[in-house]
Amino acid sequence: MVTVQNDVPVAVPAALPLDRSVGVRSGSHLDRSHESDSTALRVTNLTCTIPGADGTDLRLVSDVSFELERGRTLGIVGESGSGKSMLVRSIMGIGPRTTTVSGSVELNGTDLIGMPRKLRRKRLGREIAMVFQNPMTSLNPVVKVGRQISEGLRAHHGLNRHDARQRTIALLGDVGIPEPERRLSQYPHQLSGGMRQRVTIAAALASDPDVLIADEATTALDVTVQKQILVLLGQIQEQRKMAVIMISHDLGVVSGRTDDLIVMYGGQVVESGPTRDVFRRHSHRYTEALLRAVPSLESEPHGHFATIAGSPPQPTADFVGCRFARRCGEATDECREQTPPWVTTATPGHGHRCIHPAEISQQPRVDEGLAR
Ligand SMILES: Nc1ncnc2c1ncn2[C@@H]1O[C@H](COP(=O)(O)OP(=O)(O)OP(=O)(O)O)[C@@H](O)[C@H]1O
Ligand code: SF4
Ligand SMILES: [Mg+2]
Repeated sequence: MVTVQNDVPVAVPAALPLDRSVGVRSGSHLDRSHESDSTALRVTNLTCTIPGADGTDLRLVSDVSFELERGRTLGIVGESGSGKSMLVRSIMGIGPRTTTVSGSVELNGTDLIGMPRKLRRKRLGREIAMVFQNPMTSLNPVVKVGRQISEGLRAHHGLNRHDARQRTIALLGDVGIPEPERRLSQYPHQLSGGMRQRVTIAAALASDPDVLIADEATTALDVTVQKQILVLLGQIQEQRKMAVIMISHDLGVVSGRTDDLIVMYGGQVVESGPTRDVFRRHSHRYTEALLRAVPSLESEPHGHFATIAGSPPQPTADFVGCRFARRCGEATDECREQTPPWVTTATPGHGHRCIHPAEISQQPRVDEGLAR
């Protein structure tokens, strides 16, 4: 018989990891003015290229740079296909085999690009972890929940069977799973979607990572469970002082939960900066269009929302001009003929790649701080 466990409210994490230092600043594209020892992840000019069907190289991720400090959260937003997942997969070194990745990915000061695969995997398991959208793709359906977590603990931390079991129980408790001891012997299909996602979060936390990447980690969940998981992630991050990358195509999800924001389009960062600033004083016309496309709390529940007409161009390696030009109402010949340079604004850490930026300062359409 299949048992489906309903979700319960989030428990406050109890089994805490080792002490770690706390950082205070992160995530500015190409802005190195805030660098310090508390930087957990530093990505420089990361580019990911893949051979296209017609033999033309596609640049799925183009020249992305940012830094992320402990205790901080970086949001990455953009439409479907904008390169969010490919970016973090390139960071993790888990992209398709045919991809070529260049640039540098420094994790706690060590560059991962070019590191032997085996060594890199070891570092990744311990220092950086990822939670995916669909828990069933990261959980093995024929292995019991307890073993899926404890095996990692034994492999990465050398814990004996008993200690790994105790730690697994504590981790499951941390992520709000009731009766964690009983869950050890259950299979993923015996848990609800929300519970399975909690298990994947527990598995990701098992190695006590410095950086946690949540790639649309709550997209597949219903709104109530989504909020529980987001609150849980926020609590765990605060307790553990982890650096978090939160990817979403939903601006409402990142608005109140991230310190800094990267807006991606066609594999490029088109705008980045402190989240509040990007929401209130966005510059790039794509960010503007994204914000317009978001329903506000005041909208009719079944009302029509604006969408961005058209689709992104193929991100070929030799693409010239602004990638958003075909869909932008402000596009000029200059936009189509010149690749827009990175421009910084008056706010430290805020920049964009738009030749005719929006100059309006406006209240955000997305209600900030929904869940915090
Ligand atoms: N294995 C692959 N081979 C070739 N192209 C790929 C592959 N995976 C993704 N792409 C392409 O790379 C681009 C970026 O995809 P990516 O999955 O990073 O988008 P995304 O922003 O994460 O979108 P979503 O919000 O739908 O998850 C897309 O154009 C996609 O078609
Ligand atoms: S550079 Fe030009 S085409 Fe691109 S977003 Fe800005 S105004 Fe629009
Ligand atoms: Mg994705």
